[in-house]
Amino acid sequence: MQDLPDPRSLVNTDYADGSIYSNPELYDMEMDRIFMHNWIWVAHRSDLPEPGNFITTFVGPHPVIVSRDRKGDVHVMLNRCRHRGATVCERKSGTGASFVCPYHGWAYGLDGALRGVPYQEGYSGQLDKKKYPLVSLRVEEYNGLIFAAFDKSIMSLDAWLGRAKPWIDLFMKQGAGWPVKTMGEHKFTFPGNWKIQLENTTDAYHFPIVHKSFLDSVDEETQNTFDFVGGKGFVEDLGHGHSVMVMIPELVDLDENLDAAIPERFLELAEELSKDYPPEKVRQIVRAVGGTGFNLNLFPNLACSMAFFRVLRPLSVNETEIRHIAIGMDGGPESANEARLRLHEHFQGPMGFGTPDDAEAWDRVQRGSLAGRDIAILLNRGLGHEAKREDGNLFSDVSAETGMRAAYRQWLAAMTDEMAAAETGV
Ligand code: FES
Ligand code: FE
Repeated sequence: MQDLPDPRSLVNTDYADGSIYSNPELYDMEMDRIFMHNWIWVAHRSDLPEPGNFITTFVGPHPVIVSRDRKGDVHVMLNRCRHRGATVCERKSGTGASFVCPYHGWAYGLDGALRGVPYQEGYSGQLDKKKYPLVSLRVEEYNGLIFAAFDKSIMSLDAWLGRAKPWIDLFMKQGAGWPVKTMGEHKFTFPGNWKIQLENTTDAYHFPIVHKSFLDSVDEETQNTFDFVGGKGFVEDLGHGHSVMVMIPELVDLDENLDAAIPERFLELAEELSKDYPPEKVRQIVRAVGGTGFNLNLFPNLACSMAFFRVLRPLSVNETEIRHIAIGMDGGPESANEARLRLHEHFQGPMGFGTPDDAEAWDRVQRGSLAGRDIAILLNRGLGHEAKREDGNLFSDVSAETGMRAAYRQWLAAMTDEMAAAETGV
Protein backbone atom coordinates (compact mmCIF):
# COMPACT_ATOMS: atom_id res chain seq x y z
CA MET A 1 0.00 0.00 0.00
CA GLN A 2 1.23 3.47 -0.88
CA ASP A 3 2.17 5.74 2.04
CA LEU A 4 -0.18 8.66 2.62
CA PRO A 5 1.45 12.04 1.94
CA ASP A 6 2.47 13.98 5.05
CA PRO A 7 0.74 17.42 4.80
CA ARG A 8 3.37 18.91 7.16
CA SER A 9 6.05 18.31 4.55
CA LEU A 10 3.99 20.08 1.87
CA VAL A 11 2.90 23.38 3.40
CA ASN A 12 4.95 25.92 5.32
CA THR A 13 4.38 29.51 6.41
CA ASP A 14 5.74 30.90 3.18
CA TYR A 15 5.44 28.23 0.51
CA ALA A 16 3.56 25.11 -0.54
CA ASP A 17 4.88 22.17 -2.48
CA GLY A 18 3.89 22.20 -6.16
CA SER A 19 2.27 18.78 -5.80
CA ILE A 20 -0.59 20.10 -3.62
CA TYR A 21 -2.62 20.75 -6.77
CA SER A 22 -2.10 17.37 -8.38
CA ASN A 23 -1.52 14.62 -5.82
CA PRO A 24 -4.60 12.32 -5.91
CA GLU A 25 -3.87 10.80 -2.47
CA LEU A 26 -3.69 14.25 -0.96
CA TYR A 27 -6.98 15.13 -2.67
CA ASP A 28 -8.68 12.08 -1.13
CA MET A 29 -7.38 13.14 2.30
CA GLU A 30 -8.77 16.64 1.74
CA MET A 31 -12.20 15.33 0.82
CA ASP A 32 -12.25 13.37 4.07
CA ARG A 33 -10.44 15.59 6.58
CA ILE A 34 -11.62 18.97 5.31
CA PHE A 35 -14.99 18.40 3.68
CA MET A 36 -16.26 15.74 6.14
CA HIS A 37 -15.13 17.55 9.31
CA ASN A 38 -15.85 21.25 8.77
CA TRP A 39 -18.86 23.45 8.22
CA ILE A 40 -19.60 23.59 4.50
CA TRP A 41 -21.87 26.24 3.00
CA VAL A 42 -24.89 24.68 1.26
CA ALA A 43 -27.52 27.36 0.63
CA HIS A 44 -28.82 30.82 1.31
CA ARG A 45 -32.06 31.12 3.28
CA SER A 46 -33.83 32.59 0.24
CA ASP A 47 -33.15 29.42 -1.78
CA LEU A 48 -35.85 27.68 0.24
CA PRO A 49 -38.17 30.34 1.65
CA GLU A 50 -41.35 28.22 2.11
CA PRO A 51 -42.14 24.91 3.84
CA GLY A 52 -41.81 22.12 1.28
CA ASN A 53 -39.05 23.87 -0.69
CA PHE A 54 -35.86 21.95 -1.38
CA ILE A 55 -32.66 22.16 -3.37
CA THR A 56 -29.98 19.60 -4.18
CA THR A 57 -26.30 20.39 -3.85
CA PHE A 58 -23.04 18.88 -2.58
CA VAL A 59 -20.91 18.73 0.55
CA GLY A 60 -17.51 18.02 -0.92
CA PRO A 61 -18.08 15.08 -3.26
CA HIS A 62 -21.29 13.98 -1.53
CA PRO A 63 -24.72 14.82 -3.00
CA VAL A 64 -27.14 16.27 -0.42
CA ILE A 65 -30.69 17.53 -0.25
CA VAL A 66 -31.44 20.76 1.63
CA SER A 67 -35.13 20.95 2.55
CA ARG A 68 -37.51 23.04 4.64
CA ASP A 69 -40.07 20.91 6.44
CA ARG A 70 -43.67 21.75 7.30
CA LYS A 71 -42.62 23.38 10.59
CA GLY A 72 -40.07 25.56 8.79
CA ASP A 73 -36.98 23.69 10.02
CA VAL A 74 -34.14 23.19 7.56
CA HIS A 75 -32.69 19.71 7.03
CA VAL A 76 -29.61 18.63 5.11
CA MET A 77 -29.57 14.95 4.18
CA LEU A 78 -27.33 12.70 2.18
CA ASN A 79 -28.96 12.16 -1.21
CA ARG A 80 -28.68 8.40 -0.98
CA CYS A 81 -31.49 5.91 -0.60
CA ARG A 82 -31.16 3.64 2.41
CA HIS A 83 -32.25 0.62 0.37
CA ARG A 84 -29.57 0.16 -2.26
CA GLY A 85 -28.01 3.58 -2.49
CA ALA A 86 -29.66 5.39 -5.42
CA THR A 87 -29.94 9.16 -5.28
CA VAL A 88 -33.52 9.93 -4.33
CA CYS A 89 -33.76 13.38 -5.91
CA GLU A 90 -32.07 14.73 -9.02
CA ARG A 91 -33.99 17.98 -9.35
CA LYS A 92 -32.00 21.16 -8.78
CA SER A 93 -34.81 22.67 -6.73
CA GLY A 94 -38.53 22.27 -6.18
CA THR A 95 -41.43 22.02 -3.77
CA GLY A 96 -42.97 18.82 -2.51
CA ALA A 97 -43.96 16.68 0.44
CA SER A 98 -41.62 13.74 -0.06
CA PHE A 99 -38.69 12.27 -1.96
CA VAL A 100 -39.47 8.99 -3.69
CA CYS A 101 -36.56 6.85 -4.79
CA PRO A 102 -37.00 6.00 -8.46
CA TYR A 103 -35.60 2.48 -8.12
CA HIS A 104 -37.99 0.60 -5.78
CA GLY A 105 -40.11 3.49 -4.56
CA TRP A 106 -39.02 4.01 -0.96
CA ALA A 107 -40.47 7.37 0.09
CA TYR A 108 -38.86 9.84 2.52
CA GLY A 109 -40.37 12.89 4.21
CA LEU A 110 -38.95 16.41 4.06
CA ASP A 111 -37.15 15.62 7.33
CA GLY A 112 -35.63 12.45 5.83
CA ALA A 113 -37.83 9.98 7.73
CA LEU A 114 -38.63 6.82 5.79
CA ARG A 115 -42.40 6.93 5.36
CA GLY A 116 -43.27 4.37 2.73
CA VAL A 117 -41.88 1.08 1.44
CA PRO A 118 -43.76 -0.57 -1.45
CA TYR A 119 -44.84 -4.18 -0.80
CA GLN A 120 -43.43 -3.99 2.69
CA GLU A 121 -45.06 -7.34 3.56
CA GLY A 122 -42.24 -8.97 1.57
CA TYR A 123 -39.92 -8.11 4.46
CA SER A 124 -41.98 -10.37 6.74
CA GLY A 125 -42.02 -7.77 9.51
CA GLN A 126 -38.23 -7.44 9.59
CA LEU A 127 -37.98 -3.87 8.32
CA ASP A 128 -38.32 -1.16 10.98
CA LYS A 129 -38.74 2.07 8.97
CA LYS A 130 -37.52 4.15 11.91
CA LYS A 131 -34.07 2.63 11.45
CA TYR A 132 -33.66 3.84 7.87
CA PRO A 133 -34.07 7.61 7.52
CA LEU A 134 -31.90 9.48 5.03
CA VAL A 135 -28.56 10.18 6.73
CA SER A 136 -28.84 13.65 8.23
CA LEU A 137 -26.08 16.24 8.58
CA ARG A 138 -25.81 18.83 11.30
CA VAL A 139 -27.31 22.16 10.13
CA GLU A 140 -26.79 25.69 11.44
CA GLU A 141 -27.50 29.12 9.99
CA TYR A 142 -25.89 32.52 10.38
CA ASN A 143 -27.49 35.65 8.92
CA GLY A 144 -29.16 33.69 6.12
CA LEU A 145 -26.14 31.52 5.31
CA ILE A 146 -26.94 27.82 5.81
CA PHE A 147 -24.05 25.46 6.57
CA ALA A 148 -23.98 21.70 7.03
CA ALA A 149 -21.49 19.29 8.59
CA PHE A 150 -21.19 15.51 8.48
CA ASP A 151 -19.19 15.56 11.71
CA LYS A 152 -21.62 16.26 14.54
CA SER A 153 -18.85 16.75 17.10
CA ILE A 154 -17.26 19.89 15.62
CA MET A 155 -17.55 23.36 17.19
CA SER A 156 -20.73 25.42 16.69
CA LEU A 157 -21.10 27.39 13.47
CA ASP A 158 -21.06 30.56 15.56
CA ALA A 159 -17.64 29.68 16.96
CA TRP A 160 -16.39 28.50 13.55
CA LEU A 161 -17.29 31.77 11.82
CA GLY A 162 -15.97 33.71 14.82
CA ARG A 163 -14.27 36.92 13.72
CA ALA A 164 -15.69 36.59 10.20
CA LYS A 165 -19.22 37.28 11.51
CA PRO A 166 -19.01 41.11 11.52
CA TRP A 167 -17.94 40.93 7.85
CA ILE A 168 -20.89 38.67 6.99
CA ASP A 169 -23.15 41.24 8.66
CA LEU A 170 -21.59 44.02 6.57
CA PHE A 171 -22.00 41.95 3.40
CA MET A 172 -25.69 41.39 4.10
CA LYS A 173 -26.29 45.13 4.17
CA GLN A 174 -26.56 44.77 0.40
CA GLY A 175 -30.26 44.14 1.00
CA ALA A 176 -30.49 47.93 1.61
CA GLY A 177 -33.04 47.30 4.35
CA TRP A 178 -34.70 44.35 2.58
CA PRO A 179 -33.56 40.77 3.12
CA VAL A 180 -30.85 39.59 0.73
CA LYS A 181 -32.08 37.09 -1.86
CA THR A 182 -30.33 34.99 -4.47
CA MET A 183 -31.27 35.90 -8.06
CA GLY A 184 -29.93 33.06 -10.18
CA GLU A 185 -26.49 31.76 -10.92
CA HIS A 186 -24.16 30.56 -13.60
CA LYS A 187 -21.55 27.93 -13.16
CA PHE A 188 -18.52 26.62 -14.94
CA THR A 189 -15.70 24.18 -14.33
CA PHE A 190 -12.02 24.88 -14.71
CA PRO A 191 -9.31 22.24 -15.17
CA GLY A 192 -7.50 22.94 -11.93
CA ASN A 193 -7.38 22.09 -8.24
CA TRP A 194 -9.92 23.66 -5.86
CA LYS A 195 -7.25 25.40 -3.75
CA ILE A 196 -6.21 27.55 -6.71
CA GLN A 197 -9.63 29.20 -6.48
CA LEU A 198 -9.53 29.28 -2.67
CA GLU A 199 -6.29 31.27 -2.88
CA ASN A 200 -7.73 33.72 -5.38
CA THR A 201 -10.57 35.29 -3.40
CA THR A 202 -8.35 37.48 -1.24
CA ASP A 203 -5.58 37.93 -3.82
CA ALA A 204 -5.62 41.63 -4.72
CA TYR A 205 -2.19 41.27 -6.30
CA HIS A 206 -3.61 39.70 -9.48
CA PHE A 207 -6.39 42.21 -9.94
CA PRO A 208 -4.69 45.04 -11.87
CA ILE A 209 -2.84 42.46 -14.00
CA VAL A 210 -5.39 39.73 -14.80
CA HIS A 211 -8.32 42.13 -14.74
CA LYS A 212 -6.81 44.86 -16.86
CA SER A 213 -9.49 44.35 -19.52
CA PHE A 214 -12.18 44.76 -16.83
CA LEU A 215 -10.55 47.96 -15.56
CA ASP A 216 -10.33 49.25 -19.14
CA SER A 217 -14.05 48.57 -19.54
CA VAL A 218 -15.20 50.81 -16.66
CA ASP A 219 -15.14 54.57 -16.34
CA GLU A 220 -12.25 56.39 -14.72
CA GLU A 221 -14.28 57.22 -11.61
CA THR A 222 -14.82 53.49 -10.98
CA GLN A 223 -11.20 52.60 -11.76
CA ASN A 224 -10.04 55.10 -9.19
CA THR A 225 -12.10 53.52 -6.40
CA PHE A 226 -9.90 50.40 -6.39
CA ASP A 227 -6.98 50.22 -4.02
CA PHE A 228 -4.50 47.52 -5.06
CA VAL A 229 -1.24 48.35 -3.28
CA GLY A 230 -0.61 50.73 -0.38
CA GLY A 231 -3.45 53.12 0.43
CA LYS A 232 -6.17 52.25 2.92
CA GLY A 233 -6.97 48.79 1.56
CA PHE A 234 -5.90 45.75 3.57
CA VAL A 235 -6.11 42.00 3.83
CA GLU A 236 -6.84 40.41 7.19
CA ASP A 237 -6.66 36.92 8.69
CA LEU A 238 -9.95 36.27 10.50
CA GLY A 239 -9.03 32.89 11.99
CA HIS A 240 -10.12 29.34 11.02
CA GLY A 241 -8.87 29.92 7.47
CA HIS A 242 -11.24 32.82 6.83
CA SER A 243 -9.90 36.12 5.50
CA VAL A 244 -11.07 39.42 4.10
CA MET A 245 -9.56 41.63 1.42
CA VAL A 246 -10.71 45.25 1.31
CA MET A 247 -10.13 46.89 -2.07
CA ILE A 248 -12.60 49.80 -1.83
CA PRO A 249 -12.47 50.93 1.82
CA GLU A 250 -15.15 53.63 1.51
CA LEU A 251 -17.73 51.02 0.42
CA VAL A 252 -17.21 48.60 3.29
CA ASP A 253 -20.10 49.79 5.48
CA LEU A 254 -23.01 50.60 3.21
CA ASP A 255 -24.79 52.59 5.94
CA GLU A 256 -21.92 55.07 6.12
CA ASN A 257 -21.20 58.03 3.82
CA LEU A 258 -24.81 58.18 2.73
CA ASP A 259 -24.39 61.87 1.91
CA ALA A 260 -21.48 61.24 -0.50
CA ALA A 261 -22.09 62.20 -4.13
CA ILE A 262 -23.77 59.51 -6.23
CA PRO A 263 -21.29 58.14 -8.79
CA GLU A 264 -22.06 59.15 -12.35
CA ARG A 265 -22.77 55.59 -13.47
CA PHE A 266 -25.67 55.39 -11.00
CA LEU A 267 -27.29 58.79 -11.68
CA GLU A 268 -29.89 57.37 -14.03
CA LEU A 269 -30.85 54.65 -11.56
CA ALA A 270 -31.04 57.22 -8.75
CA GLU A 271 -33.37 59.38 -10.82
CA GLU A 272 -35.63 56.39 -11.51
CA LEU A 273 -35.66 55.40 -7.82
CA SER A 274 -36.42 58.93 -6.68
CA LYS A 275 -39.92 58.60 -8.16
CA ASP A 276 -40.76 56.08 -5.42
CA TYR A 277 -38.31 56.65 -2.58
CA PRO A 278 -37.11 59.59 -0.46
CA PRO A 279 -33.54 60.84 -1.15
CA GLU A 280 -32.01 59.06 1.87
CA LYS A 281 -33.44 55.69 0.77
CA VAL A 282 -32.34 56.27 -2.83
CA ARG A 283 -28.77 56.75 -1.63
CA GLN A 284 -28.92 53.64 0.51
CA ILE A 285 -30.18 51.54 -2.42
CA VAL A 286 -27.65 52.96 -4.88
CA ARG A 287 -24.77 52.29 -2.50
CA ALA A 288 -25.95 48.70 -2.06
CA VAL A 289 -26.19 48.20 -5.82
CA GLY A 290 -22.49 48.99 -6.09
CA GLY A 291 -21.68 46.13 -3.70
CA THR A 292 -19.33 46.09 -0.77
CA GLY A 293 -15.72 46.94 -1.43
CA PHE A 294 -14.43 43.66 -0.03
CA ASN A 295 -14.07 39.94 -0.66
CA LEU A 296 -14.68 37.65 2.29
CA ASN A 297 -13.27 34.14 2.05
CA LEU A 298 -14.97 31.56 4.27
CA PHE A 299 -12.89 28.40 4.40
CA PRO A 300 -13.24 26.11 2.56
CA ASN A 301 -15.92 26.70 -0.05
CA LEU A 302 -17.68 30.10 0.09
CA ALA A 303 -16.65 33.57 -0.97
CA CYS A 304 -18.86 36.58 -0.31
CA SER A 305 -17.33 38.63 -3.05
CA MET A 306 -18.13 42.33 -3.62
CA ALA A 307 -21.75 41.72 -4.74
CA PHE A 308 -22.26 37.95 -5.15
CA PHE A 309 -21.59 34.52 -3.67
CA ARG A 310 -18.90 32.35 -5.19
CA VAL A 311 -19.07 28.68 -4.27
CA LEU A 312 -16.42 26.16 -5.12
CA ARG A 313 -16.88 22.40 -5.40
CA PRO A 314 -13.95 20.05 -5.97
CA LEU A 315 -14.80 17.54 -8.73
CA SER A 316 -11.46 15.77 -8.83
CA VAL A 317 -7.85 16.62 -8.01
CA ASN A 318 -7.64 18.65 -11.23
CA GLU A 319 -11.18 19.87 -11.84
CA THR A 320 -13.29 22.34 -9.89
CA GLU A 321 -16.81 23.66 -10.29
CA ILE A 322 -17.47 27.33 -9.57
CA ARG A 323 -20.93 28.80 -9.04
CA HIS A 324 -21.46 32.54 -9.17
CA ILE A 325 -24.71 33.42 -7.47
CA ALA A 326 -26.15 36.88 -7.97
CA ILE A 327 -27.75 38.51 -4.93
CA GLY A 328 -30.36 41.22 -4.70
CA MET A 329 -32.94 42.91 -2.50
CA ASP A 330 -35.92 40.72 -1.63
CA GLY A 331 -38.91 43.04 -2.06
CA GLY A 332 -36.68 45.88 -3.20
CA PRO A 333 -37.05 47.90 -6.42
CA GLU A 334 -36.87 45.93 -9.64
CA SER A 335 -34.69 48.59 -11.26
CA ALA A 336 -32.07 48.16 -8.52
CA ASN A 337 -32.09 44.37 -8.84
CA GLU A 338 -31.82 44.69 -12.62
CA ALA A 339 -28.82 46.98 -12.21
CA ARG A 340 -27.22 44.44 -9.89
CA LEU A 341 -27.71 41.66 -12.43
CA ARG A 342 -26.09 43.79 -15.15
CA LEU A 343 -23.09 44.47 -12.88
CA HIS A 344 -22.93 40.76 -12.09
CA GLU A 345 -22.85 39.91 -15.80
CA HIS A 346 -20.23 42.56 -16.47
CA PHE A 347 -17.63 40.91 -14.25
CA GLN A 348 -18.75 37.37 -13.40
CA GLY A 349 -20.78 36.39 -16.44
CA PRO A 350 -19.44 33.86 -18.96
CA MET A 351 -19.11 36.73 -21.42
CA GLY A 352 -17.99 39.12 -18.67
CA PHE A 353 -14.76 41.03 -18.36
CA GLY A 354 -13.53 39.35 -15.19
CA THR A 355 -14.16 35.65 -14.67
CA PRO A 356 -12.89 34.28 -18.01
CA ASP A 357 -9.53 35.94 -17.30
CA ASP A 358 -9.41 34.44 -13.79
CA ALA A 359 -10.32 30.99 -15.14
CA GLU A 360 -7.52 31.12 -17.69
CA ALA A 361 -4.99 32.09 -15.02
CA TRP A 362 -6.16 29.20 -12.78
CA ASP A 363 -5.91 26.76 -15.68
CA ARG A 364 -2.35 27.95 -16.32
CA VAL A 365 -1.40 27.53 -12.64
CA GLN A 366 -2.53 23.90 -12.81
CA ARG A 367 -0.68 23.19 -16.06
CA GLY A 368 2.44 25.04 -14.95
CA SER A 369 2.56 23.30 -11.58
CA LEU A 370 2.53 19.91 -13.32
CA ALA A 371 5.73 20.92 -15.05
CA GLY A 372 7.64 20.92 -11.77
CA ARG A 373 5.77 19.34 -8.87
CA ASP A 374 8.65 19.70 -6.46
CA ILE A 375 9.08 23.43 -7.16
CA ALA A 376 7.52 25.61 -4.46
CA ILE A 377 4.35 27.69 -4.79
CA LEU A 378 5.19 30.94 -2.99
CA LEU A 379 2.88 32.30 -0.30
CA ASN A 380 5.29 34.83 1.21
CA ARG A 381 4.19 38.20 -0.16
CA GLY A 382 3.94 40.55 2.83
CA LEU A 383 5.24 37.93 5.28
CA GLY A 384 6.88 39.62 8.23
CA HIS A 385 5.20 42.94 7.46
CA GLU A 386 1.88 42.10 9.07
CA ALA A 387 0.57 43.97 12.09
CA LYS A 388 -1.87 42.76 14.75
CA ARG A 389 -5.23 44.25 15.57
CA GLU A 390 -6.53 44.33 19.15
CA ASP A 391 -8.57 41.18 18.56
CA GLY A 392 -5.42 39.38 17.41
CA ASN A 393 -6.15 39.45 13.67
CA LEU A 394 -3.09 39.74 11.47
CA PHE A 395 -3.49 42.31 8.71
CA SER A 396 -1.33 43.73 6.00
CA ASP A 397 -1.22 45.73 2.83
CA VAL A 398 -4.07 44.66 0.54
CA SER A 399 -1.77 42.93 -1.94
CA ALA A 400 -0.11 40.68 0.69
CA GLU A 401 -0.71 36.92 0.66
CA THR A 402 -2.03 37.00 4.23
CA GLY A 403 -5.36 35.43 3.20
CA MET A 404 -3.62 32.52 1.50
CA ARG A 405 -1.44 31.89 4.54
CA ALA A 406 -4.60 31.92 6.69
CA ALA A 407 -6.26 29.34 4.45
CA TYR A 408 -3.21 27.06 4.38
CA ARG A 409 -2.78 27.31 8.13
CA GLN A 410 -6.32 26.00 8.54
CA TRP A 411 -5.77 23.46 5.76
CA LEU A 412 -2.79 22.09 7.67
CA ALA A 413 -4.68 22.05 10.96
CA ALA A 414 -7.56 20.13 9.38
CA MET A 415 -5.28 17.76 7.48
CA THR A 416 -3.29 16.95 10.59
CA ASP A 417 -6.29 17.19 12.88
CA GLU A 418 -4.60 19.76 15.08
CA MET A 419 -7.09 22.53 15.65
CA ALA A 420 -4.63 24.18 18.00
CA ALA A 421 -2.28 24.82 15.10
CA ALA A 422 -4.92 27.03 13.51
CA GLU A 423 -4.99 29.22 16.61
CA THR A 424 -1.29 29.48 17.24
CA GLY A 425 0.25 29.52 13.78
CA VAL A 426 2.00 26.82 11.79
FE1 FES B 1 -34.00 3.23 -3.46
FE2 FES B 1 -34.24 0.66 -3.93
S1 FES B 1 -32.49 1.89 -4.19
S2 FES B 1 -35.76 2.05 -3.26
FE1 FE C 1 -9.89 37.71 -10.19
